Amino acid sequence: TSTAATSVSISGDISSQLHGGYSHPLARSWQAERQLTKSMLIYPLFISDQPDEEVVIPSLPNQSRRGLNKLVSFLTPLVAKGLRSVILFGVPIAPGVKDALGTAADDPKGPVISAIKLLRREFPQLYIVTDVCLCEYTSHGHCGILNQDGSLNNTLSVDRISDVAMAYADAGAHCVAPSDMNDGRIRAIKLKLIESGISHQVLLMSYAAKFSGCLYGPFRDAAGSCPSFGDRRCYQLPPGGRGLARRAIHRDIGEGADVIMVKPASQYLDIISDAKEIGRDLPIAAYQVSGEFAMIHAGAKAGVFDLKTMAFESTEGILRAGASIVVSYFTPDFLDWLGN
Ligand code: PBG
Ligand code: ZN
Repeated sequence: TSTAATSVSISGDISSQLHGGYSHPLARSWQAERQLTKSMLIYPLFISDQPDEEVVIPSLPNQSRRGLNKLVSFLTPLVAKGLRSVILFGVPIAPGVKDALGTAADDPKGPVISAIKLLRREFPQLYIVTDVCLCEYTSHGHCGILNQDGSLNNTLSVDRISDVAMAYADAGAHCVAPSDMNDGRIRAIKLKLIESGISHQVLLMSYAAKFSGCLYGPFRDAAGSCPSFGDRRCYQLPPGGRGLARRAIHRDIGEGADVIMVKPASQYLDIISDAKEIGRDLPIAAYQVSGEFAMIHAGAKAGVFDLKTMAFESTEGILRAGASIVVSYFTPDFLDWLGN
């Protein structure tokens, strides 16, 4: 044995010896720059305009669309387990409620504004984020107001979307998160927040790097927001567009975003890393979207991997890339898995 010990020291190669640094579970946890905690998680909620509705969403495992009367009983146990934040999506079901301008988005009696008020009252510690977009409310299903030729009218869209954001902020949302991808909406929202004197207590989270693709399908089933014609490729970013994403991140920070979001997450880890580098002075959020979540469930169901293990592995990858906030449909599971 003394010969073996001598030969190691004589060879002088100590740089190859790594195992000792992570042989213990605690030492393994020290290897991560950021550990997943409950306060990093934002849970998406689909809120229907039918107060008593509670309907499972077939393509989005374990997730349901709920009316106002079903929210408190659903959230009470989650808040008790440590749920800190939700992001609200309105789902208008009533016939005839959608129009070309997305008028229902800021209906004071609509599901989002009613839910903001209800949740602020019932769960004073819960942090309320609202997705801001028109696609759930427009008859054509696009994320803005359209020109005659079907393209987005950016000026009208930004004006309308910033009004919707203001309505949510006025109703008590802690955070407004525009996901429409119209140019210049961060600046427009920030200016309206400043003008109305509430910019100091409302966080503006930009879906700055939001890519088009096939991963939003279950969400569009849940929210009924599939475009009736065409697609979103002229406003959401092309999947190969890393430079474009960097420009959008720079722009939105310049326009006053408090948090930058990247979406989807696991397919865009390089973009999360870019966002952290460009936005080193602000928190970076990532949205593990409906298609990513459904894919993990499908893989687990097919026996490819264990659900919980993959939920952690995918989320830890998102944190490692640079995010410190994760919008995740796994949030209720993580509240159980992370324990006290
Ligand atoms: C609305 C919006 C979408 C998502 C978040 N906000 C859908 C879309 O852009 O088509 C997707 C979330 C998910 O897939 O989980 N613009
Ligand atoms: Zn939209």
